[in-house]
Amino acid sequence: MLPTNKEHWGTKIGLVLAMAGNAVGLGNFLRFPVQAIQNGGSAFIIPYFICFLLMGIPLLWVEWSMGRFGAKHNQHNLPSILQLFVQYRWIRFLGVFSLFTNIVVAAYYTYIESWTLAYLYYALIQKFSGQTLQEVQHYFDSFRSWNHYEGILFWLITCLLNVYILSKGIQKGIEATAKLLMPMLILFAISLAIFALSFQKGDFGAIHAGIVGFDYLWTPDFSGIWKPKVWLAAAGQIFFTLALGMGTIQCYAAYMKKEEDIALNAMASGWLNEFVEIVLGASIIIPICVGFLGLNKIHEWAQLGGMGLSFKVLPYLFSQWGILLGTLTGLFWFGALFFAGITSSLAMGLPITSFLSDHFAWPPKKGAFLFGTLIFLLGIPCILSPKIFDEFDFWAGSFSLVLFAVIEIILFSWVWGIDKAWNEINLNAKIKIPYPFKFIIHKVTPVFLITIFIANIPGLIQKLIEETTIDVVIARLLMVLLFLLGLWAIYKT
Ligand code: PHE
Repeated sequence: MLPTNKEHWGTKIGLVLAMAGNAVGLGNFLRFPVQAIQNGGSAFIIPYFICFLLMGIPLLWVEWSMGRFGAKHNQHNLPSILQLFVQYRWIRFLGVFSLFTNIVVAAYYTYIESWTLAYLYYALIQKFSGQTLQEVQHYFDSFRSWNHYEGILFWLITCLLNVYILSKGIQKGIEATAKLLMPMLILFAISLAIFALSFQKGDFGAIHAGIVGFDYLWTPDFSGIWKPKVWLAAAGQIFFTLALGMGTIQCYAAYMKKEEDIALNAMASGWLNEFVEIVLGASIIIPICVGFLGLNKIHEWAQLGGMGLSFKVLPYLFSQWGILLGTLTGLFWFGALFFAGITSSLAMGLPITSFLSDHFAWPPKKGAFLFGTLIFLLGIPCILSPKIFDEFDFWAGSFSLVLFAVIEIILFSWVWGIDKAWNEINLNAKIKIPYPFKFIIHKVTPVFLITIFIANIPGLIQKLIEETTIDVVIARLLMVLLFLLGLWAIYKT
């Protein structure tokens, strides 16, 4: 008999902040605003909210409740949790998704996180003061190359930091980190949003007032509202931002106390994520970029994506605002990003350490070290080739999430049965979940998810056929290998 893992979250606020930390990530600040601009401004909010309501909220409850059900049986890893719902032993193999997606996503995600740490340091030492926009842009390009030793050093430090925190376990590691960093993140982001929405034309050389960019982002353009592309973008954003379909929520929830409520806690962390995404995420990067670069150019700049704007443009703008304001804004922006990033990458590590500790009695230290080594190794190809980076993001960071979500909701609400599922979700609930959600979880969400999955297929096939360069093939081989490794590990349990 293996020693049972008796750890749990120390406090309710710790649990909610850790879960919110899992959800609030780079996606909120870098991905959302650009998605909104490219998909119809405030008109994007309509598909976005429909996806949140019909898919996001139901899946949050499903995943939280699967996790708490695991807690009751002292299981903290997805393969074993799935086993609790279906008798067939093979079902545990489907838990491979939580091992596969988390390692692959963490490989590139933690790599981006390391840029935010490096740029936080650069803000402190005022690295870019006196440089031209071209110089700042050029620096970022060279920073991303494999022979930039500082870039590699920060990447290594970031991996080690993740390993260190994970090895401290739930309360002393993840919970303590979330309790410290989440309030700071929110404080930093609110300060930046206030700044971005209040500067006037002419202040620090601004071409427009900050509010002009805010208006721009929220100007509705309904022309694309019926395009599948817009709906897929909305669904993809909801998945990514809420960290659904990865097994991270189940794993976090599996460390709850059995008698804890999930209905309210899931809403608290889910809505906190939406506040950070819609209110704060939309109020910083675009208002600043529009204010200082002008409206005409913003579409051109937006092609750089959230990451381009954040690392190629903002550091230049910050450096133009004098030492005090420049350093402070740089510190707040990259600080907020780093805190958002690390509280998410820790969530990607826990499914791995928990699986190894539940089944092989590995102490968190050993599991965390393996996780760190794997993501570091898989991160190297991402550094060498942006194509590999994109492949990882596509297959692990978007396709697998939807696929696994389809699987889990079918298992939970059809195979296990909606009545048991509904009772489980409502057990110890501190709020009354509106009854229509029973129908939504049973019928609407599965159909919605299956539709999205099918709608994704043409793009998927096209990608498989058209993109066959050597780096793409290497990326796919690496992913297949990792998937098989995951299956083998589960087989050994
Ligand atoms: N939700 C995180 C973000 O918005 C990303 C994430 C995905 C975190 C999956 C954990 C698991 O950036």
